[in-house]
Amino acid sequence: ANKLGSKKERTLAMIKPDAVTKVGDIIQMIYDAGLIVTKAKMTKLTWKQAADFYMEHQSKSFFNNLMQFVTSGPVIVMELMGDEAVSVWRRVLGPTDSSVARKDAPNSLRAQFGTDGTKNAGHGSDSLASAARELEFFFPSTAGHGPSNTAKYSDC
Ligand code: TYD
Ligand code: MG
Repeated sequence: ANKLGSKKERTLAMIKPDAVTKVGDIIQMIYDAGLIVTKAKMTKLTWKQAADFYMEHQSKSFFNNLMQFVTSGPVIVMELMGDEAVSVWRRVLGPTDSSVARKDAPNSLRAQFGTDGTKNAGHGSDSLASAARELEFFFPSTAGHGPSNTAKYSDC
């Protein structure tokens, strides 16, 4: 924590297939929340990649529906940075179920761009430990071949 008691953090954000066309609005929401985008890429997850990413949920009843959905089209993954980025981004997302979000947090990303408890427009790491794992999953720090992996925000 710095003098003001804030903590600069990094978190992993994913725009899920149902909200990829809303990337412009979503990046605006990120900056309005005081966070910055420090890495970004579009990718299409294989079933195996999605299962690895969501391994904590492998035994859940909704797992197959979740896999089906997140592999149904491209996703956009981003590293976000800012004070308390993990909890701030979760707050921007809103409740997991978009129909709940529309009642409890109508301005949230999931309220505006998601549909239900599976098709819910976005993902955010739920802790600093999850953020570290999920950032390494999508933006591995080793073997930085090619320019996309080597640019730093401070170079911009
Ligand atoms: P979870 O980690 O509980 O939610 P969050 O994304 O808010 O961290 O669940 C991961 C994803 O699994 C969630 O975004 C959507 C899907 N999911 C379902 O399809 N059905 C469910 O009942 C739950 C709890 C999650
Ligand atoms: Mg989660």
